[in-house]
Amino acid sequence: MLAGSDVKIPVLGVGTWAWGDRSTWGMGGYDAALSEGSIADAWAASIDAGVTFFDTAEVYGGGRSESIIGQLLADDPERAAKVQIATKFIPMPWKVDVRRSLMSSLRASLDRLGLPAVDLYQIHGPISLRGHGALADALADAHAAGLVRAVGVSNYSERETRAMARALEERGLKLATNQIEFSLLRRIPETSGLLSACAELGVIPLAYSPIGQGRLTGKYHAGNLPPGRRNFSNHPMEVVERVVAVLRRIGEAHDGRTPSQVALRWIMAKGAVPIPGAKNADQAAANAGALGWELTAEEVADLDRAALSRVGGVAGLKTRFWQHG
Ligand SMILES: NC(=O)c1ccc[n+]([C@@H]2O[C@H](COP(=O)([O-])OP(=O)(O)OC[C@H]3O[C@@H](n4cnc5c(N)ncnc54)[C@H](OP(=O)(O)O)[C@@H]3O)[C@@H](O)[C@H]2O)c1
Repeated sequence: MLAGSDVKIPVLGVGTWAWGDRSTWGMGGYDAALSEGSIADAWAASIDAGVTFFDTAEVYGGGRSESIIGQLLADDPERAAKVQIATKFIPMPWKVDVRRSLMSSLRASLDRLGLPAVDLYQIHGPISLRGHGALADALADAHAAGLVRAVGVSNYSERETRAMARALEERGLKLATNQIEFSLLRRIPETSGLLSACAELGVIPLAYSPIGQGRLTGKYHAGNLPPGRRNFSNHPMEVVERVVAVLRRIGEAHDGRTPSQVALRWIMAKGAVPIPGAKNADQAAANAGALGWELTAEEVADLDRAALSRVGGVAGLKTRFWQHG
């Protein structure tokens, strides 16, 4: 359940950054197979497998991701009735009147989605020049207007998560989620104490880039690097290959589960909800194969060890304006 609401989400979601995005994910560019048709198939396969939680953002594809979801919701009312939709407001530093900016972004998102309200509205990153109180005021306005059912943040550190939870509490709201980059290639949220703070606060961690932007599927290697500008979890391929080898070995002991299914299961074992991207029905169905079985404590420990040298590590080199989470 998302704190402060009656919205229930499954333990696995779907990320939709690729839907309508050209520069990173190649729609209309390097990935000729990524189309509105393949996206509709991913949508249907996910929902039919019980994966009903979809994450988007106003900035994905410059709004295209939300528009595609809006079209799918309109075309497929039976599946639409089963889903939970999350989107995000990006509080760019120049949006100084954050109350007004958030409300106008939210209304534009709802328009593209064709919805009267979203299930979860997230602050995309701690990049506002305004304090937590101003952002909490803006979220409280949206909640009071009945436009959002639950509120969350993204890319917030432990300190920022606690501060935002407090600011929302003062306005009678609960912080439901913190969406962070978390995978076997990036364990900082676990080692920094962020995950335990989320557990203490009742905040659900949503794990983005959970399969390292495709790297933990095992399909990419030194001779076949991921296409596009996939900067997150961009570790040396020998590190990726070492982790994938352990994922593969563990998957074989579980009726041939794939490396990415094991990688998603590891995230769930850490108490986070992974939101892997899916470009088509095969990927959606494969990701849903992370449901319905469990890793042993020993297997989780094996994976921890395989990923050990990546704790902190190269992630610190990322050229992003948020570094923690
Ligand atoms: N809040 C934030 O700042 C933030 C940042 C990043 C992402 N996110 C969210 O998190 C979601 C997921 O992260 P992500 O898309 O960066 O990375 P990801 O989920 O780790 O990787 C997704 C990519 O891996 C490949 N893939 C997925 N499932 C596969 C399968 N079963 N078999 C083979 N290949 C598969 C696909 O690309 P190819 O087929 O092209 O390899 C897919 O686009 C995003 O969509 C977005 O909603 C949020």
